Amino acid sequence: MKIRSDALDRRTFLGHSGRAALAALAAAAMPEARATASGKIRLATVGTGSRGTATWGRTMMRTHGEYVELVGFCDINPKRVAKAPALTGVDAPTYLADEFDRMVKETRPDAVIITTTDCFHAGYAIRAMELGVNAICEKPLATEAKQCQDLLEAEVRTGKKIIVTFNARHGNPDEEIKKVLMSGELGRIISAEFEEYLDIHHGADYFRRWHGKMRFSGSLLCHKASHHFDQMNWWLDADPAEVHAFGRVAFYGKNHSFRASYCRKCPFTDRCKFYWDITKNKRYVQLYVECEDADGYHRDGCVWDNAIDTYDTMTVEVRYANGVLLSYSLNTYMPYEGQRIAFNGEKGRLDVRMYHRQPWEVKGEADFRLTKNFGGTKTWTVQASQGEHGGADAKLRDLLFKPGTPDPLEKAAGSRAGVMASLIGVAARRSIQTGERVKIADLISFPLAWRWK
Ligand SMILES: NC(=O)c1ccc[n+]([C@@H]2O[C@H](COP(=O)([O-])OP(=O)(O)OC[C@H]3O[C@@H](n4cnc5c(N)ncnc54)[C@H](O)[C@@H]3O)[C@@H](O)[C@H]2O)c1
Repeated sequence: MKIRSDALDRRTFLGHSGRAALAALAAAAMPEARATASGKIRLATVGTGSRGTATWGRTMMRTHGEYVELVGFCDINPKRVAKAPALTGVDAPTYLADEFDRMVKETRPDAVIITTTDCFHAGYAIRAMELGVNAICEKPLATEAKQCQDLLEAEVRTGKKIIVTFNARHGNPDEEIKKVLMSGELGRIISAEFEEYLDIHHGADYFRRWHGKMRFSGSLLCHKASHHFDQMNWWLDADPAEVHAFGRVAFYGKNHSFRASYCRKCPFTDRCKFYWDITKNKRYVQLYVECEDADGYHRDGCVWDNAIDTYDTMTVEVRYANGVLLSYSLNTYMPYEGQRIAFNGEKGRLDVRMYHRQPWEVKGEADFRLTKNFGGTKTWTVQASQGEHGGADAKLRDLLFKPGTPDPLEKAAGSRAGVMASLIGVAARRSIQTGERVKIADLISFPLAWRWK
């Protein structure tokens, strides 16, 4: 990882290397909690929806319960937060959103895990740090430029830390790409390509949920693509400098002849190919249907809702500070799911094709081909591991919580990584709206004297 030369910058980012840093910081920040607790890292959760109660709830307690304990749950929906103990199997106190401060003061966590709707991540991370607690935040770290600035300033002001849970760095093929690039086999990287294909199941699901409204998700350029922009920043070990983008709502939303408010209230279920019966999923009924009268949120919203303003079709070009040019696209209504990623170097090209859901048989999770300019070509296949997101979530939890987990690929991600990924999405959104090219350095005044090449 490139560390900028000024001392504050160096200290800040070296301090972001995962569990050890978090545990040491937490112990230093909350000595009274450490002295009385089991020695486990104490975590409080804000956002007790799907991710908060599963990956960072029941599953985490099953796989990493010897290292962490959940000490409190907070959510804006009183019915959903009341279910958190049963859904996670952890008998911890529950709090409403306006009781967040009280949760932190009463439960004395070492860190708050933030798994709310995207637009609220930054506010909770800042408040947690102001209350003397580190923040472990789901992606995207932020959905607006100002949030990025406020986050960086809060980290400096409070001396607390942000860790961003970029699990997409942890998949086997994603690690393999990093290894190839670190090996130097391609020489200097000159340009890169990333195509994301979301299919008519996974892709459509974004438009049923709050993600389809930009004010909640910052668009998929923040919500979804922050994974991909972070991966590119990490793979290339480079900072984005300038962004240009196009985007449209070209398939979902207003692009249809009939619509309803949500699937259970729809008179067109026999005609709509996107009709989805949430009542067949017991967990979703518990998490959403049984809680919807408290906040009016329908998890099975209509994909043809006229109010959908999140782009379903996007192309983005990024110029990196080191000169690399990235061409990125995201389409959300594909007949199959996966990615095509490529790097063009001085000495050759790496082609990666990832298969997440295809209507044809595939051998592994990803096919790799490395071709030398004046040499041969070699191919190999990388398999996914067992578990959520091809084993990536478990590896991320290891890095955060399991003592002694090494990090040779520098997968631990702090505020810098979170902000850089979000800012590409914010810049792309702005470029789509204004037609202008957007310089990352113009989006916020970086408080740490970062150097822009
Ligand atoms: N890294 C990954 O692979 C991955 C996968 C899924 C989700 N996520 C992230 O996790 C987060 C949660 O996603 P989800 O699928 O669980 O969504 P969800 O809708 O199931 O849960 C969001 C929860 O936040 C609560 N909430 C909304 N506004 C709030 C507020 N102001 N204060 C407190 N609580 C509030 C909602 O009531 C809900 O319980 C998102 O940011 C998403 O990007 C990451």
